[in-house]
Amino acid sequence: MNMIEIITDKKFGKALSREQIAFFVNAAARGTVPDYQLAALLMAIRLNGMTAEETTDLTLEMTHSGDMADLSSIPGVKVDKHSTGGVGDTTTLVLAPLVAACGVPVAKMSGRGLGHTGGTLDKLESIPGMSVQMTEEAFLRQVREIGLAVIGQTGQLAPADKTLYALRDVTSTVDSLPLIAGSIMSKKLAAGSDAIVLDVKTGSGAIMQTLEGSLELARAMVEIGTLAGKPVTAVVTGMEQPLGTHVGNALEVKDAIDVLAGRTEGELLEVSLLLGAHMLILAGKALSMEEGRAKLLDALKSGRGLKKFAQMIQAQGGNPKVTEDLSLLPQPAVIRRVKVGRSGYVGSMDATKLGLAAQAMGAGRIFKTDVLDYSVGFVLPVRIGDRVEADDLFFTLYAKSEADADKAEGAIREAIRLCDEPVKRPPLWYAVVTRDGTQFSPEAEDMGKRG
Ligand code: URA
Repeated sequence: MNMIEIITDKKFGKALSREQIAFFVNAAARGTVPDYQLAALLMAIRLNGMTAEETTDLTLEMTHSGDMADLSSIPGVKVDKHSTGGVGDTTTLVLAPLVAACGVPVAKMSGRGLGHTGGTLDKLESIPGMSVQMTEEAFLRQVREIGLAVIGQTGQLAPADKTLYALRDVTSTVDSLPLIAGSIMSKKLAAGSDAIVLDVKTGSGAIMQTLEGSLELARAMVEIGTLAGKPVTAVVTGMEQPLGTHVGNALEVKDAIDVLAGRTEGELLEVSLLLGAHMLILAGKALSMEEGRAKLLDALKSGRGLKKFAQMIQAQGGNPKVTEDLSLLPQPAVIRRVKVGRSGYVGSMDATKLGLAAQAMGAGRIFKTDVLDYSVGFVLPVRIGDRVEADDLFFTLYAKSEADADKAEGAIREAIRLCDEPVKRPPLWYAVVTRDGTQFSPEAEDMGKRG
């Protein structure tokens, strides 16, 4: 068996055997085939897809491509959470400290930016001194001691995903159901938690943009989790616009701190409460969504969530004072405030284009080796459905140079459609998928959205 045969089979749309999948996953984990052959195979999978059986085989081979974490030394029910990725989507930095402050241990392994979407690790690394790499032993110790750690995959956990993820980021092969399901579920299963909450984004800034595609992905991942004996709740949430108002690494850390400090409300907080409440239910700490939400809000209002975030930053070598003094975060060379320029309503946004605008400013990678500029990005205070006047602030750019700010200004304007008629706000969430079926939100029901 060799890589050329496997690439050829997938190029012609054939289903790969378990042995073929094991071969290339093992090669990705060990670095025994060149990137260009893996990249060609990824593109063939992206274009020709995989059957449900291939997707399960891929996930299981990726799960076992390295070590399996053993969280049994941490008392309590461990609930993990993962997002399929979005723009301004920094729920982990909000909900992980809140959930931990409610007494549920959070031992989370996160990812870097992928395509136009941001990554929790890149955001955390924008905090001066913060490290997201540690040994499994140190990781477990931190969770036992303070109840919370968010780090990158430890050396040997799902190593095949580490290779494939970095290649997908720079080869336009991110938006593939089997590759997303394999990537997310292999990491989650190898990471050893007892239950998993998935945030499956849908809309113009999501990897899967249609509700049908997002539901299919949610169901595929729930099924894989069920086969592996883990309860999985997948929540399909809206990504028609950036979730928070801030897009960019340090900017998103600031957004999360503003939410945890009680200075900002809005959709970032609401989706964090929604996902966090599902985590509390799976951990047995809440019997209903209402109870889960109330507990999380109590952790927020009492300041316990922000304190937990500061504790985590300190434990991982970062400067915890950023939680009190936001000026300690990286600052850009240029700050430019841009006005709307006409009156009307915010009609729609192309959130992928908004993510790409941030990437082009230096917030994301175009080549695997790119070094990020943590300070850059933009703050977009307007939401779909808002009424705006010509003199209102439209967005604020945080850029490396005036030239970068010029380019970003054009790209962001192009990504947002203003119109003359009032527009309905998109739903916060569309559906919850579990092994028992799919429950649609009342807003999704109203819109007649059924995948
Ligand atoms: N997050 C992941 O970890 N993998 C993907 O493929 C997409 C989002």
